[in-house]
Amino acid sequence: MIRAIVRKAERHYDDDIFGFRDGYRGLMENDWIALDVVGMRGSLPRGGTVLGTSRSNPYRTKDGVERVRRTMAANKLDAVIVIGGEGSLSCGLALFRDGIPVIGVPKTIDNDIGITERTFGFDTAVTIATEAIDRLHTTAESHNRVMVVEVMGRHVGHIATWAGIAGGATITLIPEEPFDINEVCHSLQRRHERGRYASIVVVAEGAKPVAQTLTIAPDQFDEFGHIRLGGIANIVADEIETRTGYETRVTILGHVQRGGSPTAQDRVLASRYGIAAIDAVHEGAWGEMVALQADSVIRVPLEKAVAELKTVSPELRKVARNFFA
Ligand code: F6P
Repeated sequence: MIRAIVRKAERHYDDDIFGFRDGYRGLMENDWIALDVVGMRGSLPRGGTVLGTSRSNPYRTKDGVERVRRTMAANKLDAVIVIGGEGSLSCGLALFRDGIPVIGVPKTIDNDIGITERTFGFDTAVTIATEAIDRLHTTAESHNRVMVVEVMGRHVGHIATWAGIAGGATITLIPEEPFDINEVCHSLQRRHERGRYASIVVVAEGAKPVAQTLTIAPDQFDEFGHIRLGGIANIVADEIETRTGYETRVTILGHVQRGGSPTAQDRVLASRYGIAAIDAVHEGAWGEMVALQADSVIRVPLEKAVAELKTVSPELRKVARNFFA
């Protein structure tokens, strides 16, 4: 993504590109590195957030917006390209409303940004999760076990749904649809009565039980007030084992899903977004975000993109249900 911006910026527009370390922290503290084509060599197969990231937010920092303005003036910057998920893009929108020229690029493994069909990082996460499920089938089948796999997705279940379909999950639990543990256990029992003794239950980390059906510990928050998840799989597995008597094991994929080399799909999407973002800068399309729709990269207002999280479509959920139990 950054490689694509830098490539077109340098070779086509003759721009200078500044990469701010740790996102908004670097922008507020004038902490940056010069990015050029030579420096980006070898970055294509590398995953991750190469400039670093932080929870910093100019609107939660004293004089934050003023500091951003100072950094921009000091370096004579024409625009800021914000690359990130819902939090980063919402902050970008606020900066735009405060008069700062901002272009957004949707990047999150969660794929939960509105208006765009895809965020980059998602395909890589789904591929890793699917591969893990494929591997778990071996133990599930040879040991007649229920394997509960927890994947990321704090508010939405895109990764769980896609990896669940692709990996042949027995059941997929997602935040959009509170689950009834009784129903989950009954489905597994019905399956086992039909002679299938191995099951894979995919759980998105933000999946929640129907109110008053299961006791779960109160949510934990980090120092920035962000919810810290990871652990619902253990609760689900304990309940399955206790209620059905089937031997049940847990795998929490965690940050494995967010690392390593990106898939070809993600590399191509990121390259397209990067080129579209630098073009948007040169067309002065402030307050817009690059997005994928009907396989074309277009621009949409940031305001619409962050208005609400994109949840799993009812159509895809229905498809997934056909393969349950
Ligand atoms: O927003 C992306 C995401 O990967 C979520 O799916 C996940 O819940 C979260 O980040 C994890 O964040 P952290 O690394 O701060 O625990």
